[in-house]
Amino acid sequence: MKNKTLKRIILFASGSGSNVQNIIEYFSAFDRITTDLVLTNNKKAGVLDRAKSLNVPFYVFNKEEYLDDSLLNKLQSIKPDLIILAGFLLKIPKSIITAFPDKIINIHPALLPKHGGKGMYGDRVHQSVIDSGDIETGITIHYVNENYDEGSIIFQRAVEVSKADTVESIANKVHQLEHKHYPEVVHQLLKDQ
Ligand code: GAR
Repeated sequence: MKNKTLKRIILFASGSGSNVQNIIEYFSAFDRITTDLVLTNNKKAGVLDRAKSLNVPFYVFNKEEYLDDSLLNKLQSIKPDLIILAGFLLKIPKSIITAFPDKIINIHPALLPKHGGKGMYGDRVHQSVIDSGDIETGITIHYVNENYDEGSIIFQRAVEVSKADTVESIANKVHQLEHKHYPEVVHQLLKDQ
């Protein structure tokens, strides 16, 4: 076995977890890429049911573990090649960012730098797109740094917004883009390492 080619990913989510499920399912076809852990700060998050039914280890951490070194130690013991945020709403502590340079990525449901920053997640982002009268929105996959939604951009894809669009219809279009592109971008990043 060529262990050096084994790639490990860890996923963080706070909510439903459709992106987490989609990424796990995508990589289940690749036996040299393993999803080692799903992490959440929210014990009621839908992502937990998804991880359970996909037989992927999961863990709900509390605030103390997040801010002291326990979660960092957990991550370091797994040695992930990539840490993937998918609908994860907390800011990543500096100690974790420093420990995993260029290994933490996030997906944002709009075309950054527009409609990003603290408090901009999920439907709030789509409402902001409607309120601005934008004619397009999309997805941004970017590296995570110490500021919300400010790390360097890896990938963007746009989709049209029409006057008839609602928060829900935009969310659907954006999720479609996310489900198509997020696993592919993750895969490419792992290949490029
Ligand atoms: C996704 O659309 C993701 O881009 C967004 O949360 C949704 C989670 O959906 N993330 C943010 O808004 C981060 N600022 P999911 O739980 O179905 O994967």
